[in-house]
Amino acid sequence: MDDEPLVLEGLRRSVHAEFVADLAGGPEEGLLKLRKDGPYPVVVSDMRMPGMDGAQFLAMVRTISPDSIRVMLTGQSDIETAVRAVNEGQIFRFLTKPVTRKTLLATLRDCVAQYHAARLEKNQLKITIEALEQLDLGTLTALARAIDAKSAWTAGHSERVTNLALKMGHAMGLPATSLGIIHRGGLLHDIGKIGTPPGVLDKPGRLDPEEMQIMRDHVKIGVRILEPIPCFREALPMVARHHEWFDGSGYPAAGENISLHARILAVADCYDAMVSDRPYRKGLPKRQALELLIQRSGTQFDPMVIEVFRRLTAADPFA
Ligand SMILES: [Fe+2]
Repeated sequence: MDDEPLVLEGLRRSVHAEFVADLAGGPEEGLLKLRKDGPYPVVVSDMRMPGMDGAQFLAMVRTISPDSIRVMLTGQSDIETAVRAVNEGQIFRFLTKPVTRKTLLATLRDCVAQYHAARLEKNQLKITIEALEQLDLGTLTALARAIDAKSAWTAGHSERVTNLALKMGHAMGLPATSLGIIHRGGLLHDIGKIGTPPGVLDKPGRLDPEEMQIMRDHVKIGVRILEPIPCFREALPMVARHHEWFDGSGYPAAGENISLHARILAVADCYDAMVSDRPYRKGLPKRQALELLIQRSGTQFDPMVIEVFRRLTAADPFA
């Protein structure tokens, strides 16, 4: 970009054999083109222009199109201009006029190579992060299956609950970070059952008060198991409080402000438990389980979450 048409045309001719140049006669036109036709691999700007100087312009380019490689081409060779351009626009090269065709072409080749190298690096980083995330969720899913395998009565429970909670999260329009928390917390919400004796877990009758306390301790044990893992910090409230009631009862009854994630999980968890067979009873029909959940709206469950669940099941009856 340059405000002198002759300079612009000269530049275009210099690079014509190797590069396609899109010209702009001023900062505003340049930014407009960048927004409309960008991203460009390379943006070359003159320093002195009306309205906005080249350093400011390239700083804007950096904001709008961070991947574009930025070059300052100017008649001013003073060090102050160069320093400001580098600092504000983080430019890749600084060229002084008059620039020879050879220098200009060599610079553009360097820039384009830099652009592709940076893009490649960014893509590889993205792929690596995605692979790590997949591995992470794969590991968590395996762990969830290990938890549920402890008792024949809970086979598949953690994954079903997670899927149901994620469906509710999607229906509420929760952001990806929230859905990620639900995914992790859902898969491992019952990890504390690793510490629950099988005699209690599989008892074919009602639990006595002492056994009930042992069963309830799975929440505390779960928190203790997951506490040392930093990436689990945000999902911990789901593990700690998925048996809390909306009205403040339930357990461990740690008070108000139950996280939305835990309130969603509580509904999914209870629904799956209701419709599944247990050693002491048969699973309820889905319609009846839904009715029970609705009856407990406002006491055991958050009415907003129940409403989302109700709509979800109405649209897709227990898929
Ligand atoms: Fe639980």
